[in-house]
Amino acid sequence: MRRAKITIIGAGNVGATTAHWCAAAELGDIVLLDIPQTETMPAGKALDLMQASPIVGFDARITGTTNYDDTADSDVVVITAGIPRKPGMSRDDLLKTNAGIVGSVAEQIKRTSPKSIVIVVSNPLDAMVQRAAVVTGFPKNRVLGQAGVLDTARYRTFLAVELGVSVEDVQAMLLGGHGDTMVPLRSATSVGGIPVSQLIAADKLEEIIQRTRQGGGEIVSLLKTGSAYYAPAAATTQMVESIVRDKKRLLPAAAYCDKEYGVGGFYVGVPVILGSEGVERIIGLAI
Ligand code: NAI
Ligand code: 2OP
Repeated sequence: MRRAKITIIGAGNVGATTAHWCAAAELGDIVLLDIPQTETMPAGKALDLMQASPIVGFDARITGTTNYDDTADSDVVVITAGIPRKPGMSRDDLLKTNAGIVGSVAEQIKRTSPKSIVIVVSNPLDAMVQRAAVVTGFPKNRVLGQAGVLDTARYRTFLAVELGVSVEDVQAMLLGGHGDTMVPLRSATSVGGIPVSQLIAADKLEEIIQRTRQGGGEIVSLLKTGSAYYAPAAATTQMVESIVRDKKRLLPAAAYCDKEYGVGGFYVGVPVILGSEGVERIIGLAI
């Protein structure tokens, strides 16, 4: 059986780290692509990562390139190309620059991997997914965005630390946009099956929700030179895994909603079933 071919566009912090997690999980062969100005940088990162394989123990062919022809017929394409935030910038400050970048990347994906499933990571996320969907013209189930898995992971981490429990026992679901408009669902937050409201005071929970909303900005203000990448890359990898292994995980993702949630034709963060067809179902919740 042929291994999945996973292309990651943008070999910067999020892109290279996603390649790392995907390789370690043996999700498929990986192509790391960046702009021609980066010259041999993607090839260097790819070779370095592949040389970790005998130590870590994974089988994956990892290549780096600046030529889209090398990405041809990918099963999954992850778009991380674009500029990240610096302190004082909002995600929306990236809109103009990244819309141009994501548009040109989407044109190339349409040409070289017309059957792929595209996961957008570049910010501002919801707008960039919409851009990629319009430019590729791919069916709506094959274009989606990563934000909710990351935001949920931040929320679960903060709750686990506050309650002194394993992150594995904290379950949660967030809806809405990537940023201040995200909506952590209290009714879908539990610890070992126990509703979170029975374990934590309401004002403390509200504090954690607010910290989650500003989770990206908190990392930017600490790093000072860019934005988060370990957790974003791990989140993206979980989505890639659910697709290439057809796991049908129920995960939050930016998906095209029309009648769903009364959105009327936009990409927003909603719970979806992710499998080999991409977004196989949007889960409707009474909220
Ligand atoms: P980075 O600056 O480390 O890497 C970006 C890479 O994209 C660079 O190597 C750059 O050369 C490349 N690039 C620029 N234009 C390109 C093009 N036209 N084609 C191919 N590659 C191109 O930035 P980082 O930290 O990796 O972040 C990437 C993007 O992901 C940013 O927009 C950031 O805001 C976003 N992000 C989104 C998250 C989410 O949860 N949705 C989480 C973290 C970051
Ligand atoms: C984050 O939330 C920058 O969107 C990115 O970390």
